[in-house]
Amino acid sequence: MSNRVLMGITGASGAIYGRALLDELTRLDVEVHLIVSPTSHIVIREELGITFPGGRFDPEVYLGRAVPRGRIVMHSDGDLAAPPASGTFRCAGMVICPCSMKTLGTLAAGTGSNLVTRAAEACLKERRRLVVVPRETPLSLIHLRNMVTLTEAGAIVLPAMPGFYHRPQTIDELVRHLVLKILDALGLRHTISYRWKDPD
Ligand SMILES: Cc1cc2nc3c(=O)[nH]c(=O)nc-3n(C[C@H](O)[C@H](O)[C@H](O)COP(=O)(O)O)c2cc1C
Repeated sequence: MSNRVLMGITGASGAIYGRALLDELTRLDVEVHLIVSPTSHIVIREELGITFPGGRFDPEVYLGRAVPRGRIVMHSDGDLAAPPASGTFRCAGMVICPCSMKTLGTLAAGTGSNLVTRAAEACLKERRRLVVVPRETPLSLIHLRNMVTLTEAGAIVLPAMPGFYHRPQTIDELVRHLVLKILDALGLRHTISYRWKDPD
């Protein structure tokens, strides 16, 4: 299996989840191919107070730390000729976190027109793992139907619904629990340890 993982960040609330997930992915033995939608910049600014010099997404500004060379490969959301646009791009799977209802609806309709949606469609057609982490509430019938469609097509819909059974004391603990669920869904080995009654 390839050690590449595709990650899309779209403009749903929950920028904190995307950042925590990317932070964890860069600590694992994987090469993250990252695509960030333009609207994400607005949400990241509003929720995390981060703006990027020159309007260009910078993973080190986003994570607030240096990232070892080669851990993150950036692709522009507008670049439909980038390697992840093709089903021939080898990767273990893709996660979209957070995933907006717009992106989810586009995937359900099969009409991807940016790199996030095109790469996700390529994963679906090649039967690779696709994990989407939507955030919206309440959900309309259209949202729910789109989630059913994606599930039927083989995607894992993993809503940003934090659990409380591990008794989180901080927002970070709340967020990391969801990151654990996402990494499990991607089939990646990791060391986040909030498992229910796990002797390890
Ligand atoms: C501050 C802010 C918060 C938003 N929160 C959500 C949200 O929680 N869920 C959602 O589906 N869309 C949300 N949106 C709307 C999406 O950003 C919008 O539908 C956008 O077109 C999504 O585009 P993208 O999927 O290409 O990033 C939000 C927008 C802004 C500016």
